[in-house]
Amino acid sequence: MTRSNEPEAPSAADRARVAFRRRFGAEPTQVASAPGRVNLIGEHVDYTQGIVLPFAIDPRAAIAIGPGIDHRSVFVAEDLAISVEYSGAPISVADPSPDHRFANHLLGVIHASGGTSERPLNLLVTSDIPIGAGLSSSAAVEVSLGAALAAFMGRPADPHTLAKHAQTAEHDFVGTPCGIMDMLISAAGIAGSALRIDCRDLRLTPVAMPSPKEAVVLIVDSGVTHRLSDGGYADRRDSCERVQSMLAGSLRDASLESLSDVEISERDRKRATHVIEENARVNAAVAALEAGDLPVLGEILLDGHRSLRDLFEVSIPELDCIVDTAAELRGDGCFGARMTGGGFGGSAILLVAPTAAETVRRTVEQRFAAIYGRTPTSMMVQACEGVRLES
Ligand code: GLA
Repeated sequence: MTRSNEPEAPSAADRARVAFRRRFGAEPTQVASAPGRVNLIGEHVDYTQGIVLPFAIDPRAAIAIGPGIDHRSVFVAEDLAISVEYSGAPISVADPSPDHRFANHLLGVIHASGGTSERPLNLLVTSDIPIGAGLSSSAAVEVSLGAALAAFMGRPADPHTLAKHAQTAEHDFVGTPCGIMDMLISAAGIAGSALRIDCRDLRLTPVAMPSPKEAVVLIVDSGVTHRLSDGGYADRRDSCERVQSMLAGSLRDASLESLSDVEISERDRKRATHVIEENARVNAAVAALEAGDLPVLGEILLDGHRSLRDLFEVSIPELDCIVDTAAELRGDGCFGARMTGGGFGGSAILLVAPTAAETVRRTVEQRFAAIYGRTPTSMMVQACEGVRLES
């Protein structure tokens, strides 16, 4: 990860354009880029019609796209040095490939969005979003492809449609039973705001983030990577679905009391308790942001982390170490912290006073290094704009 004080590097979109020209000897017809995300609060509730509060972050993925030559389609992941070739239009590839995980994200979006009218396609992907850090690098690639493809085909592209196509790609081609949060925030992000997303009707409500003079968000990557298709995520989702079928209704509408009326395992009860309380925490976090009450917001983040650790059981010791250290720094400029995203690895977010950011970062890094023998990477992020076409 880069630190905010490093010299400015070329954007993912610029790199995509240059690499496309070099690889295919022509200008791309379209270039689009979309951001990664962090979730401020509202974890593991999007797939039960809950409420989430993510924001889009500075690092972006970009796609350059142009017509294929000689009846061939070529997909290039520039940063991974991967190139996959197909004869004809990509829509002719009907099944995901076990050997080309990267290409499955792209094929999935192409299929979900209705293809390319049999036209072969050259595609080149670049990204500044670290892979496996829990910052939704895949969703960013899928959303930017959706936008580039829509422009290429002359089709309209609203954020909700882009997000749904990306989610379908994850479900049908990548094999991740994810919710809609990651792709919707990547498509609809607003500079300076988090978005309260109601995952029942997909209504988006911007909630202003604190000004950079009041607080900044620091991401610390545990360096532990975990694929959401590995099983732990689906297992949590199954628990929630089992409880919902016993309740005969959504966890979104359930109360803690209603859980005592149904026969469910202790483990499912703990997971459902997390979901019910997490939805309430999102609304409390929105109220704290609106009131400018950062100490209260910080406590809500810490509560959310404890719940993910003890009830939902998706945290790991490395993330707990980062969050516990941050919690000890309350009163010294850190308001609160929590793991962000699906868990089992990935990153934590820390809400910090700007004047204390460097000290907090150093303390967290040193504590982590003393235990795990390596320094975690970290970066300061701001709430950024979602997908865009790059002129
Ligand atoms: C992953 C999924 C999201 C969401 C989070 C947990 O990021 O892709 O849909 O479920 O985990 O909140």
